[in-house]
Amino acid sequence: MHHFHYVDNELYCEDTPVQRIAQEVGTPFYLYSHATLKMHFEAFDSPFRDVPHITCFSMKSNSNLAVIRLFALEGGGVDIVSGGELYRALKAEVDPGKIVFSGVGKRPEDLAYGLDSDILMFNTESSQEIERLNSIAGEMGKKARIALRVNPDVDPETHPYISTGLRENKFGIDIREAPDQYAKASKMPNLEVMGVSCHIGSQLTQVDPFVEALRKLLSLVDKLRAMDIPIRYLDLGGGLGITYDQEEPPHPTEYAEAIKKEVKGLDLTLIFEPGRVITGNAGILVTKVLYTKSTDEKNFLIVDAAMNDLIRPSLYSSYHAIQPVVKKGRRVIKADVVGPICESGDFLAKDREIDAYEPDELMAVMSAGAYGFTMSSNYNSRPRVAEVMVRGDQYHVVRERERYEDLIRGERIPDFLQ
Ligand code: LLP
Repeated sequence: MHHFHYVDNELYCEDTPVQRIAQEVGTPFYLYSHATLKMHFEAFDSPFRDVPHITCFSMKSNSNLAVIRLFALEGGGVDIVSGGELYRALKAEVDPGKIVFSGVGKRPEDLAYGLDSDILMFNTESSQEIERLNSIAGEMGKKARIALRVNPDVDPETHPYISTGLRENKFGIDIREAPDQYAKASKMPNLEVMGVSCHIGSQLTQVDPFVEALRKLLSLVDKLRAMDIPIRYLDLGGGLGITYDQEEPPHPTEYAEAIKKEVKGLDLTLIFEPGRVITGNAGILVTKVLYTKSTDEKNFLIVDAAMNDLIRPSLYSSYHAIQPVVKKGRRVIKADVVGPICESGDFLAKDREIDAYEPDELMAVMSAGAYGFTMSSNYNSRPRVAEVMVRGDQYHVVRERERYEDLIRGERIPDFLQ
């Protein structure tokens, strides 16, 4: 079932015409389908229904309060990587007992905030972090529940910027060093060592690297249990890919079956940190054509969204399909879809076979629900765009478009410049 679909050549999100939202909210804006988010969460979560597990949505992919709240209501937790994400999660009333805190550079104040909030577990990534967490927990009179994030040295075969489980990456603790680190951590008075974790990369389109990483983690669990370190949680991270263009990633059910086969009978609670697979295809970015222009070399469609709104094409050369909000019998041209930002790297599509849109026509940049709004910035002093959630025939602005006042919030001209 697809919740972004055409009715009489007009793009709808569920039962709501996208054009109507654009007229009322203005452009650009991110648009999320409630039904799709819910369906994708269930598609990931339900195949694990028969094993102890927690689906901790990776909120770096989409951290809008309404989105997180939806998953909290579905029984999900979250994977956080900063104090700011913890703040959002608590505002959305996510159960702290289902929050895992990952990240290679957690600040002392973030560790304290996590302890104070009684989150489920810190995925620690270095021996210094482990020591620091132990001492902060001691000062606070608390015990920190931890896993070690190990680096299993598995090639996820994805874009180098989003591959994280290779020895050359900055993430985690080398799996060969892990037993020693575990032995040390388990002697620290203010830590409760209870898990192993990893995250090998993002936008994976095969199951095999996950299984390879899992096997390495399981043999570590065996070793640790033999050392009398009672491991109860295994966190396999996120990373399952989606279709942007021609990719054919495994369905979550296939992923789940492969994993369940490996962990049968091992008294472990599984944790997953899916982001993109849940939100990616549940959102689009709607933008309006401002101008068109042709040179001898190229055609340009200049639109009102830019790299500050969706940086993925510029940063990773990512492909995002572009569809008309109203289908017409336009001729097809080859063009670059570019934004107003003063950089040649500001494009949403390059050399794309695309409708010859006219000014004021709307286009939908597809698969923009993950790492879209969350990676947006105010570059060129562009207010960040609105976020809208559709449910059935209703839409809700779940984040207002920023105003010019928001751009200078907190800025001051010092006395000596008055
Ligand atoms: N857990 C950890 C520890 C992570 O670092 C990440 C993503 C995830 C879970 C979720 O991964 P997912 O299921 O979404 O693949 N900005 C890039 C993606 C960066 C991913 C960073 N870590 C992009 O737009 O493709």
